[in-house]
Amino acid sequence: MITFDNESKIIKIDTENTSYAMKIVRGKYVAHLYYGAKTDGLSRLYKEKIVSFAPYPAEEGVKFSLDTVATELSFFGSGDLKDTAIKICGQNGDCTTLFKLEDFRIYKGGAKGGNLPYSRDGDETLELIYFDEVSGCKLHSYYTVYENSDTLIRKAKIVNESDSSVSIRALFACQLDFTDKKLDMLTLAGKYYSERHKQILPIGISRQSIYSKCGHSSHRHNPFAALVSKHIKENSGEAYGVLFGYSGDFEIQTEKLFGGFTRLLAGMNRDTFEWRLLPNEEFYSPETVLTYSDRGLNGMSQNLHDHIRKHIVNPKFVYAPRPILVNTWEAVYFKIDNDVILRYAENASHLGIDMIVVDDGWFGERDDDKAALGDWFVNRKKFPDGLLALAERVRDFGVKFGIWIEPEMINADSDLFRAHPEWVLGSKNREYSLSRNQLVLDLTNPEVADYVGDCIIAALKDVKPDYIKWDFNRSLTEVGSAYLPKELQGEASHRFVLGSYRLHEKLTRAFPDAVFEGCSGGGGRFDAGILHYVPQIWTSDQTDPVRRLPIQLGTSVAYPLSTMSAHVSHRKFNKLEEKPDYGFRFAVALWGVTGYETDITSLSADERETLKKQTRDLKKYQPLLLSGDLFRLDGLYKKEYAFAVVSKDKTEFLFDYISVGKKRNVSVKLFGLNENCVYTDEAGNGYSGKTLMQDGLKLQCTDKGKYCYSIRYFVCNYK
Ligand code: GLA
Repeated sequence: MITFDNESKIIKIDTENTSYAMKIVRGKYVAHLYYGAKTDGLSRLYKEKIVSFAPYPAEEGVKFSLDTVATELSFFGSGDLKDTAIKICGQNGDCTTLFKLEDFRIYKGGAKGGNLPYSRDGDETLELIYFDEVSGCKLHSYYTVYENSDTLIRKAKIVNESDSSVSIRALFACQLDFTDKKLDMLTLAGKYYSERHKQILPIGISRQSIYSKCGHSSHRHNPFAALVSKHIKENSGEAYGVLFGYSGDFEIQTEKLFGGFTRLLAGMNRDTFEWRLLPNEEFYSPETVLTYSDRGLNGMSQNLHDHIRKHIVNPKFVYAPRPILVNTWEAVYFKIDNDVILRYAENASHLGIDMIVVDDGWFGERDDDKAALGDWFVNRKKFPDGLLALAERVRDFGVKFGIWIEPEMINADSDLFRAHPEWVLGSKNREYSLSRNQLVLDLTNPEVADYVGDCIIAALKDVKPDYIKWDFNRSLTEVGSAYLPKELQGEASHRFVLGSYRLHEKLTRAFPDAVFEGCSGGGGRFDAGILHYVPQIWTSDQTDPVRRLPIQLGTSVAYPLSTMSAHVSHRKFNKLEEKPDYGFRFAVALWGVTGYETDITSLSADERETLKKQTRDLKKYQPLLLSGDLFRLDGLYKKEYAFAVVSKDKTEFLFDYISVGKKRNVSVKLFGLNENCVYTDEAGNGYSGKTLMQDGLKLQCTDKGKYCYSIRYFVCNYK
């Protein structure tokens, strides 16, 4: 609910468990008052005082300084000496910016408009309307509330109402000022093969930032951060989650001053973003999802998971059964052809695997990663009868058909590049940097995006794939465009992201029944922007279960299991297993949307039985894994991982424990159960919810000496 109290001039946004409040000060400034657990009585929180050396607007007098007061948004060069949210340079080159509040509106539903992915629905929206009389721009700052998931969306629109062009140089539509909290910063840091490891950093008196300049949200930092209370636990402590919904270059930074004032900004990366706004044009920022929980990291994660599932991911797919697939990549890499695929399909049908995915290598002259990206027609040497005939034969086994594409990319050794060398991103008179032997298509040019989209549609339209894996295997460099005029070159980075979103729109519309899976050299584009188009994302190319565990744990801090694709593979080794242990690998791959990426054609008889049981179990567990509340369990040693997924009605839960150290005789405490339920596992052992939460579940581990694991599924019988 959003309310305005005319006497105190306080605007308050309440969700089920949180309050967010601001105050209109002196008729034209918006002070930030509060964000946290639900509360009333906020009027005492705003104070003005004289601070020596602080600048103040001449007309307001010495007691009011934009530098010392917490604000909702801050503006470059006009009295706030910290890093500021918005910077607009006018025609005369002056970049001083100062927006003053003109009006505000509160209305039902979300804020419409813009060309970026957005969260659906929304209970109510607050729209603050500011004006900068010098640049002649209007700023609309939106807050849409989602009461049940305790989330809030922030985004902004700038409209140029002047008669000359202006240039937007910084636009952080999400600013959060804290004056009285000691907080740490949690981020998801990594690299290729080790994405999204959870790290918690103290916030020093400095500016700290995570960012991407890779042209995609990146393996290095995820566009997510949380500000958390000291010594945060999974199930206790305060956590503010900030999820930036954008797939390109971003920046989330904190700045702390001596004395404790801390500001968080989330937006597009200032180094690679600028935007020219002609008279009457408007520009929308991407949106940021905010949440607060005093139920620890799990509480924050659950709020974000609910928001992503209910308002971001396509409702058609989010809770629908996901096909259990086998992907050819780690099974055979580029060595695919008709016979291989049919052999896999036949085996899949006996193992309870629903789908085969033909990964890289099916098109053009593609035998390795050096050639043919961009040539989206079937390779007749490998598939002489074409893809449709292949898909039909696969489907005859009762197995679905999935396929891999990488639409944004091109090899120099391709027919497309030979025909259109000007269709790649590049900077005039400079050499291209290569990465994985490939270049990037210039999607700022709509003709290029349309062409590549049409080619892929033509290649696949009869086949009607049941699943499409959309890869993106390099970062952007030399981000210039032969298509854009010189004064718009600085926009190429954001325009590329817009082009990519348009292409996602086009292909997801062309194949409305296909489950799309995002991918970027593993998990290099895992963000809330791309999740509008793809319900699941390949979490990492790292499929060694031991090294994958921290990746999955970190990813689940922000993203629900229903978005995290996780495969049982046989390729990647570690020091613990003597040979790939499918039981162990399955226990790890359960932490997400489980599939296979292994040679299912040469399994031993025992392994076949193991996989058959796993696929049967998965069909039982999957609805719960897709829709339940995730509790990461703590109180464990460093090498132990445990989670439980509890159904929303608390009538069932799945418990998964993995130790990559020695077996311990421990009990693991559960959370979020119904204390009056007796929960019974598949072997008929019953425990009361109260006991499981107070004393914990005593582990029965499949002990393999150096590691052990335990998967247990419980159903509630009411007392
Ligand atoms: C990337 C993906 C892999 C696979 C290969 C194919 O590395 O992450 O899963 O699809 O590309 O080239």
